[in-house]
This record gives sequence, C-alpha cells and structure tokens, in this order.
Amino acid sequence: MFYLCHSIFIPKTLENETIYILSIESSCDDTSAAVLQNNIVLSNVVASQKIHEEYGGVVPELASRAHQQNIVPVVNQALAKANIDKKQLSAIAFTRGPGLMGSLLVGTSFAKSLALGLGIPLIEVNHMQAHILAHFIKEEKMKPPRFPFLALTISGGHTQIIKVSDYFEMQVLGQTLDDAVGEAFDKSAKILGLPYPGGPLIDTHAQNGNPFAFDFPIPNVKELNFSFSGLKTNILYFIQRNVKDNPNFIHENLADICASIQYTIVTILMKKLQKAVNQTGIKTIAIGGGVSANSGIRKAVLQAKEKHAWKVHIPPFDYCTDNAAMIGIVGYLKYKKGLFAQQNITAKARYTF
Ligand code: KG4
Ligand code: ZN
Repeated sequence: MFYLCHSIFIPKTLENETIYILSIESSCDDTSAAVLQNNIVLSNVVASQKIHEEYGGVVPELASRAHQQNIVPVVNQALAKANIDKKQLSAIAFTRGPGLMGSLLVGTSFAKSLALGLGIPLIEVNHMQAHILAHFIKEEKMKPPRFPFLALTISGGHTQIIKVSDYFEMQVLGQTLDDAVGEAFDKSAKILGLPYPGGPLIDTHAQNGNPFAFDFPIPNVKELNFSFSGLKTNILYFIQRNVKDNPNFIHENLADICASIQYTIVTILMKKLQKAVNQTGIKTIAIGGGVSANSGIRKAVLQAKEKHAWKVHIPPFDYCTDNAAMIGIVGYLKYKKGLFAQQNITAKARYTF
C-alpha cells in the first residue's frame, strides 16, 4: 500500500521496518538536529545561541540569523554522530510551531527542501506536543508514562497542564494568562542584576538560601490557569523598596531572595498540579520543558510522589530543554501512522492543539 504525498510515493510502514528520522528544531534560540532509529536517539546536537545574553533576552531577528548560520553544520554533525548517510533517512521531521516566526521559517524551509531533494516524507511537529512525547524516547533510565497522564509543561514560552489520553489526544486543562514560568524566573533574575537566562542562576543561588526569608503573594487565578506577571511586579517593587534603604540589599541577601522567589513559583505550580490531580483523578504526572530542570520543582514533585502515591516521570535534562530528539520521537510516532505533511505547509507561530 502507498500514501500519495505530492509527487512522492511513500510506502506504508512495514511491521519490522527500521525507520530513520532526521529531526530539526528551531523554534526559539536553539538550533538542533537529531537522528532517531525508531524510538532510539542516535544523535541529538544542540547549538545554543549565546548572542542573546548581552541583550537580556532572545532577540528574534538575531535568532533567525543564527539559525541560518547553524543549521547546516548542526544537521551534518547529527548525521555524522549517528553514523547515518542522508540516503538512509526515512523522513524529515521539523518544528512547525509554536515559536518565533523567523526562527521557525529557517527550520521549516530547510526541512521541506531536504525532504524534497531526498524524495522522502516530511513530518510537521507541534513543539509543545514534542515536550510531552519526549517521555516516549527509549532510553535505559526512562520509563514511558501510561495513558492517561497529566503533563506539566513549563518553559520560557509556555506553562500548561495537559491531559494526555493518547499520543495525539491531548487537552489543555490550564495555562498561563500572561508570562510563562520560565519568563518569571528570567525576569526576576534580571531585576536582581543576573545575566540571561537567569532561571538556572536563581536555582543555583536558591540552594544556599532560606525559602521563607521573604514572603511573596500567591496569585489567585481561576481554575487551572496561571499568572506570573503580578509576581514579577511584586518582586520589582520589593527590590526597589529595599535597595532604597540599603543599596547592598541584593548582594547581602541574594541567596535568600532567590530561594524565596523559587519557593513561591514552585508553590504556584504545585497548587495547580494538585488541583488538576483532584479534578481528574489522574495521578500519573509527566513534567517537561526547560524549567523542569529546576531543583525546587523536581524536589516538590518527588515529595508529592511519596506523599500522594503519584507516579512521576521526569526526563533527562537534555530532553527537558529545547532539543530535536523530542521532535524526532513525534516524527517516528507520526511516521508509523502515515501522518505526513504536504510540501505547501507553512510555519505557525501560534500553534495550539
Ligand atoms: O524549554 P526551554 O529550553 O526553552 C523554551 O521553549 O522556552 O526553556 C528555557 C527556560 C528559560 O526560561 C530558563 O531560564 C528556564 O527554562 N530554566 C530554568 C532552569 N533551567 C532552565 N528555570 C529555573 N531553574 C532552572 N534550573
Ligand atoms: Zn520548548
């Protein structure tokens, strides 16, 4: 049996066929390419863009340019590391969205051209679904969650609680109404004079601080939604007030301030997650996205696992932050279902599912 995808005839997956997917991720400021053999990652190369550090945040125009510079070397490196020749590839998977339009266009155009040139199928991937389906990468220390489960996706661009009933059956139960949780970390860090991205630095300083030293209010947000912009403003006013009285306030209290901010953010996330568990009765939790690297949230989720008998899944760090391996696993799952994209597909900056 064959699927028709423009002028390319694509064989339906044979039962024991080995599938090689080259995947490309370029939604924000990481250019990444990976090669998967079925659900196993053979290579996962990430070129992070340092250029944004001096601007205190991602500059979209610079991000697109850096993707254009990086994409060919990153793809070549991924193929070389995997020891796979382009001719062996079964399909090309790419991030269609959500993300920065200029960044997405680079990966999308590259993937389309390569698939066309090689005469193989093209597979479009939703970046947020990929953060969730990263849990299905086959690796020694990883055990995939059982359906249904709740995914807490926390990154620099998103904060969502999703009910996952099957690979492609997902329902957003709640999400941020303003800033993403990663932005809350990064913007708080900026207020404290820490470089971008400040999330990991808040985490590091928080290790030596007292989480109860300073009290920041927990916002009252309806249902399973989140809001972080009020917290950012509270932190800004708190710092301005204290620095006025003592110019060395930040320096003298950095660890305690970071620990208190982190404690507040983790409390906000955990309250909503607990509410989602109570509402759905689902106790299998999978976290993903860059902020799931945070030691506070990891600890809180693991404590809840002990206390409430949750089943908790946290992927290795490399599959938490933006990476092409997670795009590749979606590529593999879609390939098996024959879910291929047409050559006239376009990038989608806002891409809900
Ligand atoms: O998923 P990701 O790599 O990119 C996006 O899709 O946004 O997430 C990046 C975000 C940044 O905001 C970064 O500060 C945050 O994840 N982050 C952390 C930690 N590691 C990364 N935030 C708090 N604690 C960390 N350890
Ligand atoms: Zn992401």
